[in-house]
Amino acid sequence: MHKDPNPAAAPTSAPLSASGPLDLDAFWMPFTASRQFKSAPRLLAKAKGMHYWTPEGRQVLDAVAGLWCVNAGHARPKIVRAIAEQAEEMDFAPGFNMAHPKSFELATKLVALAPKGLDKVFYTNSGSEAVETALKMAIAYHRARGEGQRTRLIGRERGYHGVNFGGISVGGIAGNRKTFGPMLGGVDHLRHTHDLKKNAFARGLPAHGAELAEDLERIVTLHDASTIAAVIVEPVAGSTGVLIPPKGYLERLRAICDKHGILLIFDEVITGFGRLGTPFAADYFGVTPDLMTAAKGITNGCVPMGAVFAKGAIHDVFMQGPEHVVEFPHGYTYSAHPLACAASLGTLETYADEGLLTRGAKMAPSFEHALHSLDESPHVIDVRNIGLVGAIELESVAEAPGKRAFDVFRTCFERGVLIRTTGDIIALSPPLIVEDAHIDQAISTIADVLKTVA
Ligand SMILES: Cc1ncc(COP(=O)(O)O)c(C=O)c1O
Repeated sequence: MHKDPNPAAAPTSAPLSASGPLDLDAFWMPFTASRQFKSAPRLLAKAKGMHYWTPEGRQVLDAVAGLWCVNAGHARPKIVRAIAEQAEEMDFAPGFNMAHPKSFELATKLVALAPKGLDKVFYTNSGSEAVETALKMAIAYHRARGEGQRTRLIGRERGYHGVNFGGISVGGIAGNRKTFGPMLGGVDHLRHTHDLKKNAFARGLPAHGAELAEDLERIVTLHDASTIAAVIVEPVAGSTGVLIPPKGYLERLRAICDKHGILLIFDEVITGFGRLGTPFAADYFGVTPDLMTAAKGITNGCVPMGAVFAKGAIHDVFMQGPEHVVEFPHGYTYSAHPLACAASLGTLETYADEGLLTRGAKMAPSFEHALHSLDESPHVIDVRNIGLVGAIELESVAEAPGKRAFDVFRTCFERGVLIRTTGDIIALSPPLIVEDAHIDQAISTIADVLKTVA
């Protein structure tokens, strides 16, 4: 078998697996600078509470909840037990024209937690699949009510909605789009709201930019409302580098959607399950979407799962025609997987036991204070925060965008703190069990590292 002789793929000291040196060759890694990684791998082997441990036993503070998903912290007993017991009791049940009790039990609990009016839930296995599902639901909804010409989807520049074709089409990150051809037709984009000239170093919602929601009126003028099915936005854009909506922006978007009969979809894959100090961002902003995607924190990241929450009235439009016919021809083999449902039930119990879905509100002031102590640090051009999400934006090195933040990421990891970077933006989103001492450790490590990077 051919093996790529790329010397970068052979680390100087190969990490060990249980059965000897670890072969890094076969695994084609997701969203990874693979050659750099394989020349100096960063491996995690164990996790508990706020921490990871490397295979060598080095402790690493998790300042990003894994990948914005481990909201209750790692290895929580109720979740671990729920998964183990479910695996023992029933490993899999088909979900098409069949079901298992926990899928209903969970749905009832999820809609009780969701913003009022979002009283139906459809299960997927990831955020990307939740996005595809919501987009399809929006188009199919209009068709079912006799407006089949409403197929156009509106996203936003710098939006991240996962990696499938619908998601990258409505998404707005050039790096994720440019490689993959023409994508979905009939898509348009609002401008993003990031404006450092007016809003740099804002604490909480930036003051300027609500008027950018009027872009939707411009798009309606261009295409006519009768062709537009839905608008999809992240209430707070996460993966693109934490873009916080200007005061009044989401309210305005909601009003324009209502005026023109356009569905509003909130992608709450990151903001759902307590990230802003409320169960969902919709609660934080007092703006209820028509459809809402979730994933990540739904199972505390323990078993893959995503979901779309829908208004009852949207669901009910589908409930017509002969009763033996599938009303919404969509679903996944693993929709409502028993292990995912069990993990989610254990997760919701853990959130409730410890008040985690609102704990972010309690911790937000000290998080904000600590984060903004970096305002004057070298290379920093912006610091912003909302709930338990923060971003530190660095000036890019000329000709090497992203390199400075990546160097900070690597050095922080060596110094025992896991952060996340997008371009030259450092994002922090600690598990919701975070204490002040963890925040101090993360911020002081970043402060020290910023003094050392070029
Ligand atoms: C807002 C948003 N939507 C969708 C996704 C995609 O989720 P997944 O990676 O589970 O497919 C993400 C992932 O970070 C996200 O942040």
